[in-house]
Amino acid sequence: MSAVDLTVKLGPLTLKNPVVTASGTFGYGTEFSPFLDLSTLGGIVVKGLSLRPRRGNEPPRICETPSGMLNAIGLQNVGVDAFLQEKLPALLPFDTAVLANVYGEREEEYVQVCERLEGARGLAGIELNVSCPNTSRGGMQFGVDPVTLERLVAAVRRVTSLPLIVKLSPNVTDIGEPARAAVAGGADILSLVNTFTGMGIDAESRRPVLNNVVGGLSGPAIKPLALYMVHRVAKAVDVPIMGMGGIMNAVDAVEFFLAGAAAVQIGTSNFLNPGGAATMVRDLEQWCSRHQVEKVRDLTGGLRT
Ligand SMILES: Cc1cc2nc3c(=O)[nH]c(=O)nc-3n(C[C@H](O)[C@H](O)[C@H](O)COP(=O)(O)O)c2cc1C
Repeated sequence: MSAVDLTVKLGPLTLKNPVVTASGTFGYGTEFSPFLDLSTLGGIVVKGLSLRPRRGNEPPRICETPSGMLNAIGLQNVGVDAFLQEKLPALLPFDTAVLANVYGEREEEYVQVCERLEGARGLAGIELNVSCPNTSRGGMQFGVDPVTLERLVAAVRRVTSLPLIVKLSPNVTDIGEPARAAVAGGADILSLVNTFTGMGIDAESRRPVLNNVVGGLSGPAIKPLALYMVHRVAKAVDVPIMGMGGIMNAVDAVEFFLAGAAAVQIGTSNFLNPGGAATMVRDLEQWCSRHQVEKVRDLTGGLRT
């Protein structure tokens, strides 16, 4: 088997391979050390960080659905300062790109969190979460209005020199519009998709399954929708894309590359198989080798229509 070149370059961000774990599904990385060698991953996106610690929503805040899951965690996190003092240094020994996912209730909060992250040792980039459906303020509000989104991205761009990824919400009519707005604001990379707004109802109790009533749907159930959106965004803008939504194995990842993604993120799959992302790196290399693909980056946008 000949060696496959797995490196990918997404604008200013180079990854040793295109498999990255998705925010909110992989803690702060080290929790998963018992299950896989973190250095095998292309990157890790940590849980969404806010200026102050957040407790998140009351349980139940997670439930299984046919081919997926609903969550309404509500951005529980340690806050940016504890991340910088405790969580980020713990990742320094690992040879992987650490990306901070940032959340704010107001534009000013996004800016303040990013200011604190600037210059942090061991941080490879910032992913702005403008697409969380599980909070009463902030999050998705920023991602669904192109004017607000462009202003927010531009405000963050002014305070950070790190590679800037903007994570788009799928809860829009045409995802090409926020994609263009994020790029106009100064995004280097777009990541998509976040979860689709959904809900579960228990017929016996006649009550919502989630305490928050609504939540975000993820997992294989959303893969066809996510693939379409990556395809759509790849046609709308000219920046690299990180694709995600229901990726459970290396072949799913290849489908996202063909749709236009340069890298992929693995979310819900980590709950089923906590070491699975490392297996996907190995399987992807084997898939490329079997298909005479010398460089994984050659798959990006390779859909035959
Ligand atoms: C329990 C849970 C928590 C999440 N938390 C975040 C978060 O903090 N920030 C964020 O941008 N996305 C968050 N997401 C969204 C995922 O990163 C990902 O975009 C989504 O789940 C789709 O990918 P998947 O189908 O592979 O899970 C969360 C998803 C789940 C399931």
